[in-house]
Amino acid sequence: MGTALVTGAASGMGQATAKMYLDRGWQVLGLDVADDLGLEDRRLTAIQADIRDGAAVRQALAEHTPATGIDAVANIAGVYPPTTIETYTDELFRRIFDVNVLGLLNVTRAALDHMSPGSAIVNFASVDAFTVSPGQLLYGASKAAVVMLTKELALELAPRRIRVNGIAPGWVDTPGNAATGRMTQAAQSIPLGRVAAPAEIAEWVWILTGSGTAGFVDGETVVISGADVMR
Ligand SMILES: NC(=O)c1ccc[n+]([C@@H]2O[C@H](COP(=O)([O-])OP(=O)(O)OC[C@H]3O[C@@H](n4cnc5c(N)ncnc54)[C@H](O)[C@@H]3O)[C@@H](O)[C@H]2O)c1
Repeated sequence: MGTALVTGAASGMGQATAKMYLDRGWQVLGLDVADDLGLEDRRLTAIQADIRDGAAVRQALAEHTPATGIDAVANIAGVYPPTTIETYTDELFRRIFDVNVLGLLNVTRAALDHMSPGSAIVNFASVDAFTVSPGQLLYGASKAAVVMLTKELALELAPRRIRVNGIAPGWVDTPGNAATGRMTQAAQSIPLGRVAAPAEIAEWVWILTGSGTAGFVDGETVVISGADVMR
């Protein structure tokens, strides 16, 4: 049993991951820019913060982290507005890279103040980091950055015995994804014939951080896509 910091905990895979840790008896620091995580548990501490603001994240963790520290970090908060070479703007560029890349770094650095040998980090990338997705010019690039940061951080933190891995989901049934209106059609082209449930992706966060079985897996990003993307 330990303490997990989960970002994006108010929705989709972040919420499913927070619930997964709670169900297994862990303490959870659920961080989101949204004020309501939609979860209630006496072992859950809700932290409202924007991960783009490194100082705010650091202060919030200093305030809320238990003395026993953080055993797992799940960097799940992310945004995926469509962009093309015709439609991108400075503002969209900043939003996508500031949340998906800088935000992940901010959370990781702040959490490291509270992490000890044996703890682990999981970064959410996407299959779009590996294959081209139409209309996701900047999102795919931001997630490719997450894959590389995962490798660099694994190397940097290995001497501290902190492992860093990634998860690259394909289509997952989340509120953010449902809002794109493309999910039903997408399911038809996935070899396993369906999109993933958030809980089965959360299970992989557990495998990589809490299960005790992945102690020699480090710097890797696991693709979970129902054979939609293979590498
Ligand atoms: N849904 C999919 O099919 C899919 C596929 C591949 C990768 N991903 C990635 O998985 C992660 C989770 O996706 P999801 O569909 O569950 O997300 P979602 O859109 O359902 O939820 C994302 C959460 O992140 C929070 N968030 C956004 N910006 C934030 C910020 N600046 N600071 C703090 N919190 C912020 C939102 O408030 C929201 O609660 C994302 O990184 C996404 O890019 C999703």
